[in-house]
Amino acid sequence: MAASLGPLVGAIDQGTSSTRFLVFNAGTAELLSHHQVELKQEFPKEGWVEQDPKEILDSVHECVERTCEKMKELNIDIANIRAIGVTNQRETTVVWDKTTGEPLYNAIVWLDLRTQSTVERLLKRIPGQNKSFLKSKTGLPLSTYFSAVKLRWLLDNVEEIKKAVEDGRAMFGTIDSWLIWCLTGGINGGIHCTDVTNASRTMLFNIHSLEWDPELCKFFEIPMEILPNIRSSSEIYGVMESGALTGVPISGCLGDQHAALVGQMCFQDGQAKNTYGTGCFLLCNTGQKCVFSEHGLLTTLAYKMGKDKPAFYALEGSVAIAGAVVRWLRDNLGIANSSLEVEQLAAEVGTSYGCYFVPAFSGLYAPYWEPSARGIICGLTQFTNKNHIAFAALEAVCFQTREILDAMNKDCGIPLNQLQVDGGMTSNKILMQLQSDILCIPVVKPSMAETTALGAAMAAGAAEGVEVWSLNPEDLTAVTWERFEPQINPEESEYRYARWKKAVMKSMGWEA
Ligand code: G3P
Repeated sequence: MAASLGPLVGAIDQGTSSTRFLVFNAGTAELLSHHQVELKQEFPKEGWVEQDPKEILDSVHECVERTCEKMKELNIDIANIRAIGVTNQRETTVVWDKTTGEPLYNAIVWLDLRTQSTVERLLKRIPGQNKSFLKSKTGLPLSTYFSAVKLRWLLDNVEEIKKAVEDGRAMFGTIDSWLIWCLTGGINGGIHCTDVTNASRTMLFNIHSLEWDPELCKFFEIPMEILPNIRSSSEIYGVMESGALTGVPISGCLGDQHAALVGQMCFQDGQAKNTYGTGCFLLCNTGQKCVFSEHGLLTTLAYKMGKDKPAFYALEGSVAIAGAVVRWLRDNLGIANSSLEVEQLAAEVGTSYGCYFVPAFSGLYAPYWEPSARGIICGLTQFTNKNHIAFAALEAVCFQTREILDAMNKDCGIPLNQLQVDGGMTSNKILMQLQSDILCIPVVKPSMAETTALGAAMAAGAAEGVEVWSLNPEDLTAVTWERFEPQINPEESEYRYARWKKAVMKSMGWEA
């Protein structure tokens, strides 16, 4: 490969299941090199999901170093890396000691359900116990999903955290804040910040003023001094303080779903994308207008591409379990040794044979917001085998997408006539065909599935003081598109969807 490629931009993509570092050719979006590390999740009690913040940080260092080594082997000069963007699993909550740099508890992962009783307690303080009471300020319903209730739980239950807050030693952050603080020096002057997109997932952030909201902090009893500074999604936050990329500015930061929206170039009002990761998230750009959903969707920040640039908003349909159901079949049931094998099992039969699988492992998110739901597999007969269950798991991902797409269409008034997709699961052609069949519209996938990382790289490359990337969709010559057209008739699709809805109803109320 040629040694002189012009400016390059790196992206740290810290997801729930894995961490990646990727390097792109600025402007063309060609992916030059990357490295990925799978991450452990801990389940200390039923419904609890934790990760070790130090393991997450180590995985970032490992990915950066290994990618740089791979680039040297390819004869690409790492000195051409002009900036780094950070994109991350959202809502996952970390509290650490700013004097030692040590986390004071494991990260509580977004999927974690331990805060159900915290949510119920908070709801009792709200007139009519209305879950949407804080929606006009936050865009979010009161749910176990968002960071404020996780932070409340930590303050209530972890002595060391209470003490660190009293002593003025505690710092709170979502994964972006934790990583940026550590990478820019940690106890030796690390930058404690977050961007508007990540802040908009905490329930402490006012989506209109773009600031931490004192009333929200009071409601959740969160001390404001432990919160990071809020910045735009594209500006220089600090520089890498160690490793092969020492001195390179970190100048992009977005929650992973927001980064994918950017990476898919959904810059126009009404443009949407669906990302299939651990969960599945459909975001539709609503421009500079804050649109509120009548059908169970969230209002969230889409991006703010610079200190003095306007904020853009999005409507979001969030599904908690997508790729995680495949991992569950592999790790918990052991019906396959890899995700690929799960897909092969499904492909061998090409039907669920009337079996429906609602993977409500963390309750149901959009459009139901029902924490009492639990996973069910129904419609079993003596004929059902592991192949059918594997197929039903993939079909569940598609049905859940249909539910959030239907909600999006109702809220937006103009139905989407195709769905742009990305994320790890989109390499599964059966899933993509199934998705198009169940939605009855074409599904369109970019040749480069790493659009989340690409979005973070674009934000970093476009930042003031870096300016190696123009954010002009026409520059992205390395990206081509693959299209999946519906192949079954709409009646059959509707029949299967109606059966799915019946299965969803059966999954509700288990924890009531
Ligand atoms: O809100 C949670 C989301 O950001 C997690 O993304 O990629 O780990 O499924 P992912």
